Amino acid sequence: MEKRVSSVKSIKGTLRVPSDKSISHRSIILTSLANGNSTVKNFLKAGDTLTTLNVFRKLGVSIQEEKDSLKIKGVNFFGFKEPDNILDMGNSGTTTRLTLGLLSGQNFFSALTGDDSLRQRPMGRVAEPLKMMGADIDGRENGKLLPLSVRGRKLKGISFYNKKSSAQVKSAILIAGLLSEGKTKVTEPFKSRDHTEKMLNAMGADIYVENNGEYTVSITGSKELNGIDIDVPADPSSASFFAAAAVLLPDSELLLKDVLVNPTRDGFFRKLKEMGAKLEYINLREKAGELIADVHVEYSPNIKGIKIEKKDVPSMVDEIPLLAIVATQAEGETVVTGAEELRVKESDRIKAVIENLKNLGMEAEELEDGFIIRGKQKVRGGVIDSFKDHRIAMGFSILGLLSEEGITIKNADSVFISYPEFYEHLEKVIVS
Ligand code: S3P
Repeated sequence: MEKRVSSVKSIKGTLRVPSDKSISHRSIILTSLANGNSTVKNFLKAGDTLTTLNVFRKLGVSIQEEKDSLKIKGVNFFGFKEPDNILDMGNSGTTTRLTLGLLSGQNFFSALTGDDSLRQRPMGRVAEPLKMMGADIDGRENGKLLPLSVRGRKLKGISFYNKKSSAQVKSAILIAGLLSEGKTKVTEPFKSRDHTEKMLNAMGADIYVENNGEYTVSITGSKELNGIDIDVPADPSSASFFAAAAVLLPDSELLLKDVLVNPTRDGFFRKLKEMGAKLEYINLREKAGELIADVHVEYSPNIKGIKIEKKDVPSMVDEIPLLAIVATQAEGETVVTGAEELRVKESDRIKAVIENLKNLGMEAEELEDGFIIRGKQKVRGGVIDSFKDHRIAMGFSILGLLSEEGITIKNADSVFISYPEFYEHLEKVIVS
């Protein structure tokens, strides 16, 4: 599907964007492992999280959909059933990597594959530490690429240095650690999103964290998990698109409700503020260990370029393409470095951003691990390729709102992966 997004005057209103993708994935994966039942309110029903739901049903977990919640019957650590076919992970890196941790310690065989994008994404980063724990994983390029096969084994705890600060890698190891003998320890140079450890802690796991310079999580295997009730807040990554639009469009004002502002996730909002955006958290509150706020954003005509370095990347990793869009409208230079991880996301997001900006007649300089963008630039418009990547489609849709002639987004239906209602929500807040 192609979508054309044309210039608008401003955006105004109140919006509750869809629920958080990372917490929704974990709300199924971790509660399945419980010895007891769980309820999940406000589960995100989008491409990636429905993939997790389907995969866990195929592993024998009963997940019932009720009015506005899911009821999940935990099967405890080893009550999963051998799937009778290859598990289809669709486009979802999170489903694949976290589930690999779980399957490695089961007493059965499984096989996993995914779509064209997922089959190119690196799985060695989880397969390698899992093999150190005793996992038997094989696949293309020595177990580095999907399709992968897993012969479940008895696992043992390890200490692992997670150099890339990846939450998916950390979570896969912690899940395998739950099923292992002994203690498992994961250390990362910069703390990545911590929803797995928060949820496991709430479920009664024997888990603790140390945060002194580096960040370390330790978990002791074999302690059973209790079921819990989860209410998933709105996704800051989805809210970011609307926050950016409000900052860039004259006369705009938005209230984004119930947004997760966990410090491992709200880097984009913090950087927007540093650029000079009028953005504030209202009604900041804590719910089940997660920080939540209503985010109030207004048109901010004098935003300035900014520097993003490696230490800044984890808390805004999925928002960096959108930062590039904002940077085109900021005075001066925005320099992003230390973001080489963007090259192995749903698309090569550095290339996708730079190529598309250039195709629109705009200027941007590609770096191996980031980019340099100078503003303010005129946005004439044209055609962009989303590379079937939801965040590229949504980011360039926001740029379309500022364009003189409109921007046509190729493969715009990719928004279904994280935000199926994106274009309807956009319509709701547009003032033309
Ligand atoms: C995610 C972790 C991040 C992020 C992804 C979701 C998660 O990936 O980019 O969209 O839910 O754990 P990495 O772990 O590869 O950094």
